[in-house]
Amino acid sequence: MSKDAESRWGVHTLSVHSGEGIDTDTRAIRRPIHMANSYELPTDIEELLKVFSWDHLDKFEYTREHSATPRHLEERLAVLEGSEDCVVTASGMGAISATLFTLLSAGDHVVASEVCYTGTQGLFGDHLPRFGVEISLVDTTILEEIKAAIRPNTKMVYVETPGNPLIMISDIKKIAELAHEVGAAFVVDSTWSGLIPQKPIQLGADIVIHSATKYINGHGDALGGAVMGSKTLMAKIRESGVVHLGACISPFNAWLIMRGIVTLPLRMEKHSDNAMKVAEYLNSHEKVESVRYPGLASHPQYQIAKGQMTSFSGMINFSLGLELMENFEFLKKLKLIKHAVSLGHDQSLIVYVPTMFFFDDMVVFNDEQKKKYISVGIEDPEDIIQDLAQAMG
Ligand SMILES: Cc1ncc(COP(=O)(O)O)c(C=O)c1O
Repeated sequence: MSKDAESRWGVHTLSVHSGEGIDTDTRAIRRPIHMANSYELPTDIEELLKVFSWDHLDKFEYTREHSATPRHLEERLAVLEGSEDCVVTASGMGAISATLFTLLSAGDHVVASEVCYTGTQGLFGDHLPRFGVEISLVDTTILEEIKAAIRPNTKMVYVETPGNPLIMISDIKKIAELAHEVGAAFVVDSTWSGLIPQKPIQLGADIVIHSATKYINGHGDALGGAVMGSKTLMAKIRESGVVHLGACISPFNAWLIMRGIVTLPLRMEKHSDNAMKVAEYLNSHEKVESVRYPGLASHPQYQIAKGQMTSFSGMINFSLGLELMENFEFLKKLKLIKHAVSLGHDQSLIVYVPTMFFFDDMVVFNDEQKKKYISVGIEDPEDIIQDLAQAMG
């Protein structure tokens, strides 16, 4: 696809056409999946050197290093995020570990969101310290906490916004300024935004991470991850984080995700409209103790969310009284909404993990953690609300 055409197209057109092309063998109007793990090498030295260089990302050697269908997905994601380049990985955790283990070394210090995805907490709490990296976990919705934690050896500021599971919103633009004052890389895990509503690179982030398993794929049938940023940073992450650490994506999953993205802007509109309706319903229900949705004026960071998101995605965190949750009563009554982890699927999902299970030994979980979150799907909103209503009684 020509760069000139792409620069004029809107987001729906780009989601359909970027990274797409005509199959040169058959003239099919879609690129095929290349389920190969190895590619024939040129016998010309100049051509061979191109295959081994990250300057020629359209030349392929071995699928753990770099291959055709994942590359098409990278092209589409980079265009949609507005980044110079993208590296796709086997999962969101693959993207996060590729980034952290590429950019950090013994003696470095990181300031990170204290409440974030449990897998990321595991890396901050258990693994990076084993390699001599120090982590300060702070409430990244409070700029003073970040400022106070930053040191001369701070190499990275890592923020998840919207944050899992409390849907806290951190100010991307202001945190980018703080990080850059000390020359630290600013990394944003933007998974819960669903990509289309939030563009952290434009707001000053150096690296944006997504679990493509969630909204980007959107159909609950493949795992994937993406790291986006400058060509220089992506070349480093591709080499150390993917080629050496090995979390490369299967071409089949890359193809499924590529297909899922075709409807990403449409789906994000629907997720967001549905979630607003569900959040308003929950907010008005006498049995609901609290609701957090960035589109509600009652959300503690509503103004920041309005300033940096064009819509508010599909994630709601809410709290019900104990009598509804005892023996999982509320969950047992749900008929449409599935009790399942993950999010951003076409189907509505709900997760309730009582604190006593496994959160106690993790970084900062408190009573708020006993809340549930619902990933509002793209079904008819009346049906989602009706299911919640009959389960609450
Ligand atoms: C914010 C966030 N980042 C990363 C991940 C990890 O993604 P994956 O399950 O694709 O490894 C998750 C998973 O829920 C998440 O919520």
